[in-house]
Amino acid sequence: MGQIVPDTIERYLAGLNHLADPVLEDIARTGVAEDLPLIDAEVGALLRVLATAIGAKRILEIGTAVGYSGIWLAGALPADGMLVTMEMDEERARRARQNFARAGLAERVSVIVGDVKIMIAKVSGPFDLIYQDGAKNLYTPLLDRLVALLRPGGLLVTDNVLWNGEVAPGFTEKPTHDVADGRAIAEYNERINAHPALMTATVPLRDGVAIAVKRGSPELKPMLDTLARATHALREADFNDDARK
Ligand SMILES: C[S@@+](CC[C@H](N)C(=O)[O-])C[C@H]1O[C@@H](n2cnc3c(N)ncnc32)[C@H](O)[C@@H]1O
Repeated sequence: MGQIVPDTIERYLAGLNHLADPVLEDIARTGVAEDLPLIDAEVGALLRVLATAIGAKRILEIGTAVGYSGIWLAGALPADGMLVTMEMDEERARRARQNFARAGLAERVSVIVGDVKIMIAKVSGPFDLIYQDGAKNLYTPLLDRLVALLRPGGLLVTDNVLWNGEVAPGFTEKPTHDVADGRAIAEYNERINAHPALMTATVPLRDGVAIAVKRGSPELKPMLDTLARATHALREADFNDDARK
């Protein structure tokens, strides 16, 4: 359990989650036994709700691990949708492919093995949703590239943005999480909340999930302004015609 939401509330939320799936449950058990850094089912359900709500057809994930969060995301895709997910640990990527196959999602998932710093230049957008859950010190360096890969109206979802509460000054005098990563996340939080292309809200679920929507394309603004002026002029002309009748 995390430190942010009290254990009783987390247990209550877990009890409400009825999206039972034997493959997900098995991976979650393995994750606990092996101490893998996987999301829990509540964050998984949030990812699936978000992807479903925007009708996502193309999703990019940074940080596959063994495919747990990827199954939550890919489960929201239509049959012709695609999840592209990146992992640099070859053994984890191999297990992720197996898990996607067990979940019946292999056709909808492409696991890219390699360092995201290199691989991110090799994918092309637009994506409807990007889930960022890889190395915390890469959150900020990747940000502008991820925003560029996102379609206007698409979502950038980031995990661990509260870092066990330790990003908040004064929360604890004895941090238990990596302090340098905590600083990197704090910088990232500032960036996504001030980013001109994003509108961001943070949900303090588990370790904190930031949800940012990419604002409308600035390239379209001059065209939309022209359209608005033309519509206004037409309305005025119509009004003047009516007034003359
Ligand atoms: C927190 S885990 C991802 C957990 C997964 N999203 C889930 O909840 O099921 C982060 C993963 O990112 C991978 N990773 C770390 N740095 C990376 C990098 N530079 N390129 C690609 N993957 C990286 C790690 O090997 C690890 O498996």
